Amino acid sequence: MTKRVAVLLSGRGSNFQSLLNASLEGSLGGGISLVISNRPGAGGLCIAQDAGIETALIDHQRYPSREAFDQDLAGALDNAHPDLVVLAGFMRILTPEFVARFSGRLMNIHPSLLPLYPGLHTHQRALDNGDSHAGATVHYVTGELDGGPPVLQARVPVNSGDDANALAARVLAMEHQIYPVAVNWHLGGRLAWSDGGLLKDGLPMPPSGELWKNAS
Ligand code: GRF
Repeated sequence: MTKRVAVLLSGRGSNFQSLLNASLEGSLGGGISLVISNRPGAGGLCIAQDAGIETALIDHQRYPSREAFDQDLAGALDNAHPDLVVLAGFMRILTPEFVARFSGRLMNIHPSLLPLYPGLHTHQRALDNGDSHAGATVHYVTGELDGGPPVLQARVPVNSGDDANALAARVLAMEHQIYPVAVNWHLGGRLAWSDGGLLKDGLPMPPSGELWKNAS
């Protein structure tokens, strides 16, 4: 049966678009069956609707608490029976209960070379520190913010004269390449967690995940 991916997003949805492109080209290993946004104006919702994908708006501002929002979110996801839930620019911190419910089938992409710079403003922080490289990391989600096991990481150089926007654009181009690959690995059953960490094809992965240029 076709594997099912549910996408959670809050904004423009360029990572979702890259996942959608991969699914249409047959390289994702499954299809995107549901897109949920917590923000009414999210561009990603329009992309999904244009593509004929089921969408849902679950506006966090209408909920009295994070727990109540996450309960409805989890309910909507459960109805869709996803093999994987993908966070693609989803700007909400999830409750431990939600994370536990989807543990092992919840992925995120973060615009930094994790474990460096969890949280916001990653590009500016890399610039402020004078880093020679920046990048993006796909990781499984745990209760620790941007702290789950990395699956795949791509590096880009920081160029002299870069501002945060220029660096973000260079990193984003890599995000669009690596996220569909990591999702494909998951849907193809190539990734597994053990006590010792993450395995790919039965072999331990490096602590920062597989490096993109070595990825296969
Ligand atoms: C990306 O930079 C992603 O790494 C971060 O949020 C941004 C989302 O961009 N988590 P988009 O909505 O996918 O274009």
